[in-house]
Amino acid sequence: MQISFAAPTSKLQAGSWVVAASDGKALTQAAVKADKASGGALTRALKISRFAGKSGEFLEVLAPDGLGLSRILLVGLGKPAALDAKMLEVIGAQIVARLESAGENAATLEIEVPKGGKIKAGEAAAHLAFGARLRGYSFEKYRTRNLDEYKRHLATVTVATADAAAARRAWAGLEAVADGVVLARDLVNEPPNILYPEEFARRAKALTKLGVKVEVLGEAEMKKQGFGALLGVGKGSERESQLVVMQWNGGRKKGEPVAFVGKGVCFDSGGLSLKPSAGMMGMKGDIGGAAAVTGAMMALAKRKARVNAVGVIGLVENMPDGGAIRPDDVLTSLSGQTIEVLNTDAEGRLVLADALTYTQRRFKPRFIIDLATLTGAIVQTLGFEHAGVFANDDKLAERLADAGRLTGERVWRLPLDPAYDKMIRSKIADVKNIGGANSGSITAAQFLMRFIEEGTVWAHLDIAGVAWQDGEQKPMIPSWGTGWGVKLLDRLVREHYES
Ligand code: BES
Ligand code: MN
Ligand code: ZN
Repeated sequence: MQISFAAPTSKLQAGSWVVAASDGKALTQAAVKADKASGGALTRALKISRFAGKSGEFLEVLAPDGLGLSRILLVGLGKPAALDAKMLEVIGAQIVARLESAGENAATLEIEVPKGGKIKAGEAAAHLAFGARLRGYSFEKYRTRNLDEYKRHLATVTVATADAAAARRAWAGLEAVADGVVLARDLVNEPPNILYPEEFARRAKALTKLGVKVEVLGEAEMKKQGFGALLGVGKGSERESQLVVMQWNGGRKKGEPVAFVGKGVCFDSGGLSLKPSAGMMGMKGDIGGAAAVTGAMMALAKRKARVNAVGVIGLVENMPDGGAIRPDDVLTSLSGQTIEVLNTDAEGRLVLADALTYTQRRFKPRFIIDLATLTGAIVQTLGFEHAGVFANDDKLAERLADAGRLTGERVWRLPLDPAYDKMIRSKIADVKNIGGANSGSITAAQFLMRFIEEGTVWAHLDIAGVAWQDGEQKPMIPSWGTGWGVKLLDRLVREHYES
């Protein structure tokens, strides 16, 4: 999808002309202009429809007389006072969905912010484009037949705005984030026979071109350093485990970095504690955390964020061959703590344990946020609407909640407490990798906290419910992989951690 910004013109030549009305059928100036140009087609259509200008409403005039256009599309904006960046993104996405299904290939969006709206023209235009871009995504690289049925038709989107220069400036930052989201979605959508740990590492390595420093540790190096927990998970796989360390140094020299750690289980069969068939489907998506971290690093680098950030991802495949770890095995983690593995399907926490230790010891970060598709229990608890957040720091938890409200990637805090920690005491080792039958997301978080050192500010995001979705439930997300977390982390950094 080609996106550009332009000053409004008096008469469009081709494609769809998308204009807006706010609540109460209040046409914006552009809508009035389109109405006049079409000899009153919009006014006539308004009389015979129940379009009221509420958000989510559309009114379509096909082949308007006297214009070379395929349609005028009138979009409802709702109440002007409620119109903010997030709403405009959703509107941009809804427009694209609508035009895609109509087979349109070009559109001009001329959507002014009505009086009372809280956002400037240029910003508004950029956020419309952002929503359009994210909704225009699709993952079709493995289709070889009936391409026309799947291909995206809407090739060019022009956003007409009174302040195109400001729009382009705002878009520069947002486009970087959109690119990061797209990368994260692509990683989650790739099949696991293609995207195994080394291939993921290669794709992360490509961020070097953007000025990100990328190091890859293989099994020999990790073994030498003592990554017993992470390597344990990869033992049943033919594929080599990897740890990828990405550094973006856009902040002050020697300034402590912020750190993101991601679970990257390229496929989670459960290992010897094998998942049942239905539960195994989709487990290529168990890299959702690592994908979000990689996407966020891309976004920060592309928009040249004034921050030092590190992204550490643990990449493994959880498989059940003869070399696999067994339930009852005891592993020695990088921290030195021993872990009794009672269920090999609770593997994400093993990967994260070592990645967290490594990140703290090497970088002494201002904070660590880990992202992981960690537990089925979080899906039971919060469904697809919120990620679970666990934190040892109220301020960081608050900031994540705020960034979530601003971006639509919402999080809900759940408790950490010594009473839950008791549930992961092992009979023979320092800790065991499962709790009891209940509060599974919390005991998983308690497990991770065993690897958080004194003084580290830490939050854990359990994203198992939000990293992918079936069908098309959310307006900005047409695909399976959602790219969840890229917008959130970018926003958190932008609001609080740039110099
Ligand atoms: N990757 C899964 C969690 C998951 C489940 C993500 C469903 C998305 C959808 C994780 O590795 C896992 O298997 N967790 C187990 C933990 C249990 C064995 C303690 C789970 O949630 O059942
Ligand atoms: Mn598992
Ligand atoms: Zn898993």
